[in-house]
Amino acid sequence: MKILLCGGAGFIGSHFATIRLLQHNDSIVVLDKLTYAGRRQNLAHLEGHPSFAFVHGAIESPKDVQRALSAPARAGEPPFDAIVNFAAETHVDRSIAAAHDFIQTNLLGTNVLLEAAIQHRLRYVQVSTDEVYGSIEEGTFTELSPLAPSSPYAASKAGADLLVLSCCHTHGLHGSICRGSNNYGPRQYPEKLIPLIILNALHNDPLPVYGDGRQVRNWIHVTDFASAVGIVLEEGAPGEVYNAGGPDECANIDVVERIVALTSASPDSIEHIADRPGHDRRYSLSSEKVRALGWRPRVRFNQGLADTVAWYRDNVSWWEPIRSGEYRAYYERQYDKPLRSGPAHSTQ
Ligand code: NAD
Ligand code: TYD
Repeated sequence: MKILLCGGAGFIGSHFATIRLLQHNDSIVVLDKLTYAGRRQNLAHLEGHPSFAFVHGAIESPKDVQRALSAPARAGEPPFDAIVNFAAETHVDRSIAAAHDFIQTNLLGTNVLLEAAIQHRLRYVQVSTDEVYGSIEEGTFTELSPLAPSSPYAASKAGADLLVLSCCHTHGLHGSICRGSNNYGPRQYPEKLIPLIILNALHNDPLPVYGDGRQVRNWIHVTDFASAVGIVLEEGAPGEVYNAGGPDECANIDVVERIVALTSASPDSIEHIADRPGHDRRYSLSSEKVRALGWRPRVRFNQGLADTVAWYRDNVSWWEPIRSGEYRAYYERQYDKPLRSGPAHSTQ
């Protein structure tokens, strides 16, 4: 397949690019705006591959999308088969502080991609989230559960999902949606819980836990979610939604305590701080439908978390520029305290 991969320089998109290019021999053109969360370095291991190209541009710009769809202009190259859209503003706390960019990218950007997919008759996969369903105290969400998003981020993703489904219904688009639970693993921007806690633990910084920390997330390793999106691309039916949840649920405080143990940080560094406004208590997905297409999650949370801690410990050159750049200003605004800048303490 030849795929226009939007948002491929981010966390999950970069894993999807790796799996599709190296394991499935797909041809990949990444279109990415390189926001604070997107980095060419996330794709460095693919640069120079004959079936890989990168285009710097925004999904909300029809000109950028058309430019990406005509790249790379090599004679005899096959046309595109599919658009897979990972591009999004993704952090709930940032959407609570200011929602504009979320509407622009997640809604208007998705609309531009849908118009291109319809015009060029391309397969379309929208990458979405369990957060569109809101919170569930008991049981699991299926694809038929009602949409009840809590945050501006979740609302923008739910709106995008509805746009996709409307284009399938009205324009005959061959579009599918894959909704994932909370991802973790290498290359996740440290604003998210797991990398934030790992890096703070390695620096002896306080470990911020919102409220009582008893909120539960359904953790999925990033390679498992990337492979679920690939199966939906290959096998998904038009107008259908597929949930892909991880094999394990864990309360936030338990996640933090496990990271404390893995890094030998002090348990006294755990700090309960003011809760997130509108904080969803629990997410849980039923993945029966995508399992019926042959998908299985392979990584259990215990092992995946230990490997993730090891990856951040071993890849200082990946996170050091982030921790001293935009992220530092964001952190100090969000948590109202400075980030320690000293060297990470060494743990075995
Ligand atoms: P990320 O924040 O790490 O990366 C997002 C990428 O999109 C970045 O490379 C960024 O530069 C790019 N981007 C942002 N705005 C853009 C625009 N206007 N035009 C082009 N590129 C743009 O995100 P992620 O965690 O990898 O998430 C990828 C997708 O998966 C998102 O759609 C997200 O909603 C969804 N998702 C994420 C999770 C999770 O736990 N991280 C869970 C379920 C679903
Ligand atoms: P996050 O990684 O932001 O993902 P999401 O909001 O999409 O689930 O947060 C995961 C959970 O961790 C969520 O319940 C909020 C909580 N959390 C904290 O307790 N402290 C933090 O500093 C952050 C960033 C998140």
